[in-house]
Amino acid sequence: MTTYSFAGCLQNSQRINWRLDEVLGDRDFDPRKRWLPQALSGADAVRCLDDDEKRKLTHVEMAAYAHLFGYVEEFIAPKIAELACDHRESDRTAFHALTSFAAEEVKHMTLFRLLRDRIDAKMGFGLQLVGDAEGTATYVLGKSPGAVLLLTACIEWFTQRHYRECFVEDATLDPFVRHVFKMHWLEESQHARMDHLETLRVFTASDDAERDRAVDDLIDLVAAVDGLLQMQAGFDVDNLSRYLGREFDQRAREEILASVLRAKRHTFLASGVTHPRFQELFLEVTTPAQQERVGAALGALLAGDAATV
Ligand SMILES: [Fe+2]
Ligand SMILES: [Fe+2]
Repeated sequence: MTTYSFAGCLQNSQRINWRLDEVLGDRDFDPRKRWLPQALSGADAVRCLDDDEKRKLTHVEMAAYAHLFGYVEEFIAPKIAELACDHRESDRTAFHALTSFAAEEVKHMTLFRLLRDRIDAKMGFGLQLVGDAEGTATYVLGKSPGAVLLLTACIEWFTQRHYRECFVEDATLDPFVRHVFKMHWLEESQHARMDHLETLRVFTASDDAERDRAVDDLIDLVAAVDGLLQMQAGFDVDNLSRYLGREFDQRAREEILASVLRAKRHTFLASGVTHPRFQELFLEVTTPAQQERVGAALGALLAGDAATV
């Protein structure tokens, strides 16, 4: 079993912590490059687009990718701030580490908002992106803490995987994009570990009925995430059409939509739930029957993708 400590996370967090102006500066996107790694993009699988159009699809997909991080951080930050208070009197180090975690997520929200402005300016129009992040955060925060923490763990671990396995490896990628997600990854490394510790704490303090409710809630949250991905995939097609100044016929639209949605489900669900550290955590806090229920729900969404948890 992997062990982490709040003291170690706090030490790393204080060493790494960066300022927004250091990350953004006067850096800019290069539209001649791809903006999202091949492994996270649906562009290459689309046959009705030429190479130039595929590259532009990665621009649209990266805008959505960055936006969705800021979107989920709207519920991660308040949940972690709330959990931090549980340690206020008993463990100052955990209190400090978790409040720093929450503060970093708030900073990341600002990072992705500022990035969105630069993307819109570069592409020449305001991209359509899923809205009502506050309403979604309220919905998620109404679910049981164990469910929110498991969903958050999935997100934190796929952030690790994406940078280390996809952003680093793709030589065709825009350097500014790689830089932003490197800096995000550096701070997220501590979040993944602290989320692991808090998930264990919350599940240990729960009774059987509460754990079962957390699993039901997790299944609801996964369905809600998929609903957002479906909506954003549709917006991506609209954004691409506007970016290219080209109307798609129904067949082309359906082909692009299917490929973009497949890539988003891989990116935001499959690559998280199959991460070894997430699997280790999930197996530790759930029973085989609960694992089967979550596996069935994911399997229905990720047909053809790796959905084993
Ligand atoms: Fe973040
Ligand atoms: Fe995070």
